[in-house]
Amino acid sequence: MAEVPSIYQGPVRNTLDRLHAAAKRDVTQFFKLGPKLLAGFVRGKGLWEVMTPEAMKGAYLPVSPEQGQLLYLTARALDARTVVEYGTSFGISTIYLAAAVRDNGGGVVIGTEIEPGKHATALANLEEAGLAEIVDIRLGDAQETLQQTPEPIDLVLMDGWKELYLPLVKLLTPRLRPRAVVLGDNIFTFRKALRPYVEHMQDPQNGFASTTLKLSDGFEYSVYLGDR
Ligand SMILES: C[S@@+](CC[C@H](N)C(=O)[O-])C[C@H]1O[C@@H](n2cnc3c(N)ncnc32)[C@H](O)[C@@H]1O
Repeated sequence: MAEVPSIYQGPVRNTLDRLHAAAKRDVTQFFKLGPKLLAGFVRGKGLWEVMTPEAMKGAYLPVSPEQGQLLYLTARALDARTVVEYGTSFGISTIYLAAAVRDNGGGVVIGTEIEPGKHATALANLEEAGLAEIVDIRLGDAQETLQQTPEPIDLVLMDGWKELYLPLVKLLTPRLRPRAVVLGDNIFTFRKALRPYVEHMQDPQNGFASTTLKLSDGFEYSVYLGDR
């Protein structure tokens, strides 16, 4: 008999349902940001410069359920055992990834979160989902916390603040296994800020084949074709 994936049942499903519902109610965070956004625009600042981790410390900003399922399915297809995530927030994407790694037979998901409150809540949410033993969620700036990771890396999710996608993918590329997948979120919302990242991933000279999926607000799906 075929297995039932853990994202469809039990504590993983229950925790995801609770968190997705809470994130849906979370639109108030954006209303709170309104005055800051307005003041920023008046001073010529873009959305990007106004949305600091401090300003967004209460906001979920999660992957959608469809993106979460794609993360789970991709990690299963790759038989992923080592996953790295930039931008954990309250841990929704981390749960999809950790569930896949556990269903594959075990391994580790390295998460990164710069906001201490979010980091603590993510750990509690992973505990509730029964996945605490699969994750190593690092508190601090990803530029430091990702200096050392296990390798080879099977799968990477880029979902933190956008100016770091490119430097972080350059940092992690030498640790990728052949045919590793790198997924980058929010390509349409932050089109300008992410253009250098998309151009890098879509230039085969850099070792990747890549396409922008029209899923949620744009998911860059990149496959590493280089060697180790
Ligand atoms: C879009 S949210 C992540 C959502 C998460 N992947 C999910 O699906 O639930 C981005 C997160 O990245 C964090 N972040 C921003 N800059 C960071 C940095 N330099 N290092 C680590 N985390 C950072 C923010 O605090 C925020 O919680």
